[in-house]
Amino acid sequence: MTSPLPVAFAAGTSGIWQIETVKAVIGDGLPAATRLSVIEDVGRAARADCAWVLRGVTSNIRYTNRREADALASQQQGLHRPEAVRAALIPIRKNAAWWALTQDERRAVFEEQSRHIGIGMTVLPGVSRRLHHARDLGGPFDFLTWFEYAPAQADAFETMVAQLRATPEWRYVDWEVDIRLTRA
Ligand code: HEM
Repeated sequence: MTSPLPVAFAAGTSGIWQIETVKAVIGDGLPAATRLSVIEDVGRAARADCAWVLRGVTSNIRYTNRREADALASQQQGLHRPEAVRAALIPIRKNAAWWALTQDERRAVFEEQSRHIGIGMTVLPGVSRRLHHARDLGGPFDFLTWFEYAPAQADAFETMVAQLRATPEWRYVDWEVDIRLTRA
């Protein structure tokens, strides 16, 4: 496990990612913007003229067991692959009922009932991902999820996202925006 990495997603008129679509899946959308920067360097401030900035931090795993962690590690690829020119930024907030659950209850919803990892693994190794936590930073969303994939993986990605949204875990999601991007 590497140390927590603070990441800012800054939307406006600059950045290597071109915003193609912004879809409000559950709840409100986000202000319009044409480009997105993913700023991994804490020292670099987001530009002042941004339409919006969402901040998160990578963290330790909460729900993954050893067998799953080993399976994921054997199949996952890192970000920034040259062929992965498509991306999805999906900010998510979960409701008070979720946060009232205990750790073991959340794990049961997440994997035993919803098979989040099982469903997600169907798109590995073609889809790279990074989960950022934002709840403890006081952000509007609890999680900022980021995915990168090649155009050939687009259909598999859509199928996987649709499967996840139909799970019991998603009954606890009360805000979700789906932002799709291409590398400019
Ligand atoms: C958490 C895997 C796709 C949203 C997780 C975790 C794993 C995982 C292993 C648990 C991390 C931990 O133990 O703390 C995957 C894989 C995917 C995938 C392999 C396929 C590429 C997605 C998609 C979304 C999503 C498409 C959004 C639409 C989330 C969220 C969490 C999470 C919000 C945090 C859950 C929580 O802590 O309550 N994912 N995932 N994942 N994933 Fe996924």
